[in-house]
Amino acid sequence: MNIYDEMEPQFYHKIAEAVGKANPILDIGCGEGRLTNFLARTLGSEVCGVDISDLKLTKDRETSDARDVSDLVWFVKGDASQLDFLVNDSFAAIVSIYVLHEFMNPPESLRELRRVLKASGKFIVVDFVKGGEAERLWAERYYTPCEIESMLKEAGFTDIAMEFVYDDVVFVTSRMSCTRLKHET
Ligand SMILES: C[S@@+](CC[C@H](N)C(=O)[O-])C[C@H]1O[C@@H](n2cnc3c(N)ncnc32)[C@H](O)[C@@H]1O
Repeated sequence: MNIYDEMEPQFYHKIAEAVGKANPILDIGCGEGRLTNFLARTLGSEVCGVDISDLKLTKDRETSDARDVSDLVWFVKGDASQLDFLVNDSFAAIVSIYVLHEFMNPPESLRELRRVLKASGKFIVVDFVKGGEAERLWAERYYTPCEIESMLKEAGFTDIAMEFVYDDVVFVTSRMSCTRLKHET
C-alpha cells in the first residue's frame, strides 16, 4: 500500500462533500468502481462509472460493497473522448480521480465531458501533478496546476478552484460555463 492508497478514503469523502446533492453523477475513468460505489452508498445518488478498460470494469463487481448499491450504479465501457452513448446534459456532476493525466487527448475528452454535463454542473478532478513523488514512482506524464487550469478553461469550465490535498495531488472543483464556446455557436 502506498501513501496515495492510504489517503484514498480522505479524498473520497472530500469528493462526496464537493458533489453534495448533485444527482446523477458520472465517474469517468472509474477503474474498478470503488469511488463509484462509495458515492452511491454515501450520497444515495445514481452513479455511472465509465472506463476505457473492460478488464477493470469487470473486477470486484460481486463484492458486498458493490452489491449494496447495485440498484444505484451502472458501469459502461467507454472512452472519455467519445461518449456517444450519453446524451447532452446528462449529469449534474462529473468526478475523476487520477485520470486526467491518462487521457490521450485531454482537450477532446474535456470538451466531451462538458457536453454531457448539465448547465452549472460540477466537475471535480483529482490528479497527480508534474514533478512529484507519483512521477518518480510511475514515470507517467503529469500536468502542472497551471496547465490543468488552462485545459479546463479552454474546454469551457469556469469557477475553477484548486488546492493541494497532498504534496503532489491537486483537488480541483469547477463548473460548466453556461457561455457557449466559439466552435459551438
Ligand atoms: C490510475 S487509474 C484510476 C482509476 C480509478 N479512478 C481509481 O482511482 O481507482 C486511471 C483509469 O483511467 C482509465 N482511463 C484512461 N483513459 C481513459 C479514457 N480516455 N476514457 C475513460 N477511461 C480512461 C484507465 O483505464 C484507468 O482505469
